[in-house]
Amino acid sequence: MVRAEQSPITERSEGAAKAVSTWSGQAREQAVQRMFTAIAGVYDLNNTLLSFGLHHHWKRLTASYVPAVTNGRALDIGAGTADLALLIEPKMGEQGHVVASDLNHAMLAEGLRKVSGRGLLDRITCLQANAEQLGFPDDTFHAVTTGFCMRNVGNLAQAFTEIRRVLRPGGRFVCLEFSRPAYGWLRALYDWYSFRLLPWVGTKVARDRTGVYEYLPASIRTFPDQERLATLLREAGFRQVEYRNLTGGIVAIHVATK
Ligand SMILES: C[S@@+](CC[C@H](N)C(=O)[O-])C[C@H]1O[C@@H](n2cnc3c(N)ncnc32)[C@H](O)[C@@H]1O
Repeated sequence: MVRAEQSPITERSEGAAKAVSTWSGQAREQAVQRMFTAIAGVYDLNNTLLSFGLHHHWKRLTASYVPAVTNGRALDIGAGTADLALLIEPKMGEQGHVVASDLNHAMLAEGLRKVSGRGLLDRITCLQANAEQLGFPDDTFHAVTTGFCMRNVGNLAQAFTEIRRVLRPGGRFVCLEFSRPAYGWLRALYDWYSFRLLPWVGTKVARDRTGVYEYLPASIRTFPDQERLATLLREAGFRQVEYRNLTGGIVAIHVATK
């Protein structure tokens, strides 16, 4: 694994997560780091249980928007346990390569384990990096993907500018993220699930002390909805910006071209 930077990550956030979505700068980054370090070992299992397995379907659809290229270069940001990186790898062709990047060392270590288990260490590089400061030259990648990472990023506009910078002209950015359910009844149900049931399961069943189950709905609430996110992408200079709602808009895939 290549590490661009690393900070000591040992403390636990003790329920402070609810406020994290409104923090900015270093405090936010450190809190996000603490949470993902604490949950890295159970992330895949929790993800499957809490999404009722839907995250696999959402990720497969996200990967389907990545064009197949010969000798392609792709970057997955906030790769975590590397699901999306593994899905887009076959699209990069025989001599292709994927960089799976993430802020958090523990999440990336889980990803590296999966990449290694599939015998793909020569095809996928795990790299620790912040979405707001991607240390790659301009015009490097044919495609950039990200799944459930952008709502954790402190400065979204800066991240989008960076993503556009490292994409080749004509390259595609595909962003999978929680969004705003399209129907009133679904919003009400989803709010009950995320603001009541999820924190209860987190504290009573999973005995979580990181506050991540409170952070999750709070971060979703404060993240731009489908239209606003599309506007931010256009403001960052992307063209042909489109989105597709999945599962009634609980999540959305945004596709944008440099
Ligand atoms: C909810 S997980 C998603 C992991 C994976 N993409 C997936 O879909 O299963 C969010 C990931 O984004 C990472 N992350 C949060 N803020 C980041 C940032 N500013 N730059 C890069 N990665 C970040 C976290 O460390 C975490 O691994």
